[in-house]
Amino acid sequence: MDLSRREALRLGLIGAGGLLLPWPGGGSARADQPCPEGAACQPHHPHEAAGPYVPSRFSPQIPRFERPFEPLEVRYGQPLGQDLDAYRITMQSATVEIIPGKATPVWTYDGTMPGPCIRQQKGRGSVVRFVNQLQDAAGTGIATSIHLHGMASLPQYDGYAEDLIPFEHYKDYYYPNDKAGPFWFHDHAIGHTSRNVYMGLAGMYLVDYDHCDFLDPSQAERLPSDAFDVPLLIQDKRLDGDGQLIFNDNLQRSLYGDVMLVNGVPWPRMAVKDRKYRFRILNGGTSRVLNLRVMASMDSRSVPMEMVVVASDSGLLPAPVSTASLRMGVAERYEVIIDFTGLAGRQVYLANPLQAVNRDGDLRTTSLICFDVTSGPADTTPLPQTLGRLTPIERLQAEVRRPVRTFRLDRLGSQWVINNHGWDPRRIEARVDPCATEIWRFVNPGGGWVHPLHVHLGHFRLLSRNGVAPPAHEQGMKDTFYVGDFETLDIVGRFGPHEGRYMMHCHNLVHEDHDMMSQFAVGNGGCDPCGAPARPLPEPSSFDEPIGIPDHECSTNDDGSVCL
Ligand code: C2O
Ligand code: CU
Repeated sequence: MDLSRREALRLGLIGAGGLLLPWPGGGSARADQPCPEGAACQPHHPHEAAGPYVPSRFSPQIPRFERPFEPLEVRYGQPLGQDLDAYRITMQSATVEIIPGKATPVWTYDGTMPGPCIRQQKGRGSVVRFVNQLQDAAGTGIATSIHLHGMASLPQYDGYAEDLIPFEHYKDYYYPNDKAGPFWFHDHAIGHTSRNVYMGLAGMYLVDYDHCDFLDPSQAERLPSDAFDVPLLIQDKRLDGDGQLIFNDNLQRSLYGDVMLVNGVPWPRMAVKDRKYRFRILNGGTSRVLNLRVMASMDSRSVPMEMVVVASDSGLLPAPVSTASLRMGVAERYEVIIDFTGLAGRQVYLANPLQAVNRDGDLRTTSLICFDVTSGPADTTPLPQTLGRLTPIERLQAEVRRPVRTFRLDRLGSQWVINNHGWDPRRIEARVDPCATEIWRFVNPGGGWVHPLHVHLGHFRLLSRNGVAPPAHEQGMKDTFYVGDFETLDIVGRFGPHEGRYMMHCHNLVHEDHDMMSQFAVGNGGCDPCGAPARPLPEPSSFDEPIGIPDHECSTNDDGSVCL
């Protein structure tokens, strides 16, 4: 057997100790065999027409800032071999209480909405067994696909929209965790992502930074950690008087909820100490753009406070950036420090002032969470001065060897399209050389819509928006870009390390489903991703095949930067 470790990994075939073993749900060797011209690797699911227009009603009033804040349930893996952690997550329905006294049926990862927050050590691979036992209220099984958003996964584990896990099947997804950042996992089922995520299929997945991520590792300790490092998953929902979630995508245009949930709790109240906290914030909604601000209530006044951004979608910023507001399209993430020092006895609010772009103008969405500040031990740790090691943008630009590729985000009739096409699994919008660095241009020609555009596989840098450099907090590593009305964005990034077909799409999930999704191929996209076979239940009681990952090295580029 002459396959190098690297090649074997690419095929998903490598076993612990370097043994080559096929493993359940493992990659298929078809990755290197191109499909016959025009053949579909997966059945194409035709676009479904919109139902009749039904205006949205307001949800029942829910008292704000009464329910206590709930942290996400943190999940650590079970060591499975030397370099690998195993997780098991079951997709199942459950009920939660959003309106006091009413049971709300939701779809969950392991019984909670949102799902658990996976905390994964960098440099150790993980295998997550996703077991599908999800049925809707009528008892119909729901097919799912799971994408770990932010991870450069092999194509067969990337949650390809047509690569579904049928009801009463399971599949093992393998993730390399070779990059740290505030990632998240969510459903990606073809044509039904918006419904499935809205119904509850979303969770966070934090890969912890290690010393290689920091320009000056001694600065790492200055970031608030443990109890002072708090994920906030923000979502908007709409409910009827009985507590049922209403999924209304307004003729496949957008869905705006009027109940703001933080970690599944409507408008919670959180006790904090008078010190610095680090919040890892995710806009996990469907369509709504957030515009976060922090307001301290001082006697009868509201005083704006600054936030210090330390990381964006896929990693640390080069240095902390202070800002008064933070705009976040769906799927964008920021890690921010809020300093409550000197505010003991006061209330501080995370606010979300109205923005025309959301088109619902609902005043109930203008606040998210109330912090009650109490006094605690003095916080004397200064803010870090430097953070991540990033490749200079000029260097990435110098690596580009081909003309800019343009992707136009449009409305064609009643469909959302990229370069005039809806989703077609047989169509490849761009063929990219492995490890090539390219500049991609996203054009929103106007029409009143915002498109948070997500490109799978890569970690990119935003060069410009309408020719102007973006604010500093948008200049770090990102995978989702807010493309506003009449805006043109240029991004630059390297495409790798894997080859295969990867999706790109608008992360307004309603746009994504109807049909603003496309794909690119790195190298020989071939028939990949055909995906890995889903296996029927019952599952074996353990992960019975050894699964290995490459030895982790703190790999740096010759300019001392990591990854990008
Ligand atoms: Cu967060 Cu293709 O998705
Ligand atoms: Cu869009």
